[in-house]
Amino acid sequence: MDRNTDRNTGRNTDRNTDRNTALVTGANKGLGLETARRLGALGWTVFLGSRDEGRGRAAADKLAADGVDVVMVPLDVTSDASVADAVRLVRQHTGHLDVLVNNAGAPGHAVPPAEATADEIHSVYDTNVYGPVRVTQAFLPLLRAAENPRVVMVSSGGGAFSVVTDPEQPVSKMHELAYSSSKAALNMITVRYAQALPDIKFNVATPGEVANRTFAATDMNHHTGTLTVTEGTDSILRLALLDADGPTGTFEDRLGPIAW
Ligand SMILES: NC(=O)c1ccc[n+]([C@@H]2O[C@H](COP(=O)([O-])OP(=O)(O)OC[C@H]3O[C@@H](n4cnc5c(N)ncnc54)[C@H](OP(=O)(O)O)[C@@H]3O)[C@@H](O)[C@H]2O)c1
Repeated sequence: MDRNTDRNTGRNTDRNTDRNTALVTGANKGLGLETARRLGALGWTVFLGSRDEGRGRAAADKLAADGVDVVMVPLDVTSDASVADAVRLVRQHTGHLDVLVNNAGAPGHAVPPAEATADEIHSVYDTNVYGPVRVTQAFLPLLRAAENPRVVMVSSGGGAFSVVTDPEQPVSKMHELAYSSSKAALNMITVRYAQALPDIKFNVATPGEVANRTFAATDMNHHTGTLTVTEGTDSILRLALLDADGPTGTFEDRLGPIAW
């Protein structure tokens, strides 16, 4: 018997059966929080992932005060145990997950390539590459229980070969290995998921506008971005809200599809 089925009445007790549900990782601040806020404002139930319970609780309380149906989910994407606990918690509230936004990301320390060590790169990959794989894999059963499941991977223009090899793009002169290559790996992983799992839409969002070389002001870039977090989440929202005949395996910024 399904865990959402009442043993006595046989009725589904999933309180969100008629509601859209989304889990956003790294949603205690920045683009993750704004994504959670915007989905919540649409009437969705939002599972707000945060590796720090206090920061997550504070963020969730703010959304709840604005009327959002929000559940804070302690979730460190680098920990198998934390991800497993998160699945258990989400399952207590819903039998399906319509959207997973793998947003949590680490910038690394921008170490010059000649000095970069495998350890430094590994720690960034643990969050930006293995994290989304860990979370996606664990939530597949809940995603598969949704009618039109969508996964949005939050990557970066810095993970695009088309951008990094363009001398006009500032990132071409920002010498580091970890962050850009982690996002390039995430892009490939997304395409491979999209090809292998056609019943789930897997798309990559980058928060900026590549053609205009803009990005969103958050803690990650010490608020040097010129886009707001709302503008920065436009691509994430668009891909999260794709309907059943929408695309899979695409890479999009705020203005639309971009080159890999
Ligand atoms: N801002 C931009 O324009 C821009 C451009 C390109 C790509 N991105 C991508 O957008 C995503 C969001 O970044 P942001 O700009 O909003 O930066 P941010 O404000 O620094 O937010 C990053 C979020 O990720 C969380 N996080 C880091 N490691 C984690 C872990 N191990 N487990 C769970 N959560 C973790 C952080 O939690 P704590 O608060 O606990 O540290 C925080 O909530 C990232 O993937 C980033 O690479 C952003």
